[in-house]
Amino acid sequence: MRTQVAIIGGGPSGLLLGQILHKAGIDTIILERQSRDHVLSRIRAGVLEQGLVDLMTQAGVGDRLARDGIPHHGTILTHDEKELRIDFTRHAGRPVIVYGQTEVTRDLYAARDASGAPILHEVSDVELHDLDSDRPHVRFTQNGKSQRIDCDYIAGCDGFHGVSRQSIPSEKRREFEKTYPFGWLGILSETPPAHHELIYANSGRGFALCSMRNPMLSRYYVQCRVDDHVDNWTDQAFWDELRHRLPSQYADTLVTGPSIEKSIAPLRSFVCEPMQYGRLFLCGDAAHIVPPTGAKGLNAAAADVFYLSDALQRRYLDQDVQALEGYSARALARVWKIERFSWWMTSLLHRFPDQSEFDLRMQQTEMAMLAEDNRAKHTLALSYVGLPY
Ligand code: APR
Ligand code: PHB
Repeated sequence: MRTQVAIIGGGPSGLLLGQILHKAGIDTIILERQSRDHVLSRIRAGVLEQGLVDLMTQAGVGDRLARDGIPHHGTILTHDEKELRIDFTRHAGRPVIVYGQTEVTRDLYAARDASGAPILHEVSDVELHDLDSDRPHVRFTQNGKSQRIDCDYIAGCDGFHGVSRQSIPSEKRREFEKTYPFGWLGILSETPPAHHELIYANSGRGFALCSMRNPMLSRYYVQCRVDDHVDNWTDQAFWDELRHRLPSQYADTLVTGPSIEKSIAPLRSFVCEPMQYGRLFLCGDAAHIVPPTGAKGLNAAAADVFYLSDALQRRYLDQDVQALEGYSARALARVWKIERFSWWMTSLLHRFPDQSEFDLRMQQTEMAMLAEDNRAKHTLALSYVGLPY
């Protein structure tokens, strides 16, 4: 097989890149390790920056998002019984859009199918070869048959556990990592949300988040021990703990119900530098991970896809390779700002096991500055709604 750009990974990064390149007349093949159902079963966040919404619209995949996406013009931060609202539209000029990121993936799969461009599922033994030549190729197995794709470029969109980042020689890459001493226990319930906007709560018992997918589908999280297990939590135990962590005005009116999904996720900050090697370019979770406080995972990936799709179009349509050569530097400049924001939101809103009284005062003072100073609100809002590409 031969194509112009081989895309490793059929998650949102790979699918969005494939859709944009297809619209530009650039041939791609997407290789995905899992079945489509498996990819669609992955629990994802529900907040989209306007930049991602615009990319989906420009890629011709924005219709359902335009219909079902819910603009959120602000969010609530609470600290024990205190609360403050960050007005995104007032401080940053635009809202975020609440729309399940799994629905983004579903929309992108539908577009891929409609385009007729190839996506191969349940592939294995993916290997990237001759990355430092002008004739890279990919080897893989599907249905027990070994196959090869010759291409001009490879986009590594295969997530944190993929093969692409590992295909950059270890002496050529530098990795930065921070793990957090807690996890997020999340549930999905067919109940109305606690509030019409998201609530990020810092309480003496730990962090909690009240989110949603639609007016009758709510997503909740509580900070839990890093070694906790879902089996330790009945639904009732979850609801009781969530109520303890919310100000009484929300706890008293919380509508509970049976969980239809329950899972625990660890929190990590991670960046790989550089995000390119020879003819390989990394996008999304293959290159960086953020803690979910602020829902920046997919939104950071979207910016990578914007930069890489722009560079590939310049190369194929204008014979200009300069943007490709500068991809990593351009992408990392924004990635590190998103890493900072996600780390800062996580540090502000969680209770750390070794937290000192001084550390607690620092959290309280950050909250006081947000409450009293519009410049602090402005800075938070700019990052939350999405820094410019
Ligand atoms: N070969 C082929 N596919 C692979 C391989 C491999 N060796 N390894 C992993 N994959 C596939 C995974 O099965 C997965 O479907 O690559 C895909 C990577 O998708 P994600 O992990 O979702 O990463 P990405 O597309 O970058 O999404 C970024 O979306 O919803 C958010 O929080 C989520 O931060 C994440 C973001
Ligand atoms: C979610 O809706 O799952 C969600 C929302 C905001 C976050 C994280 C997760 O910061």
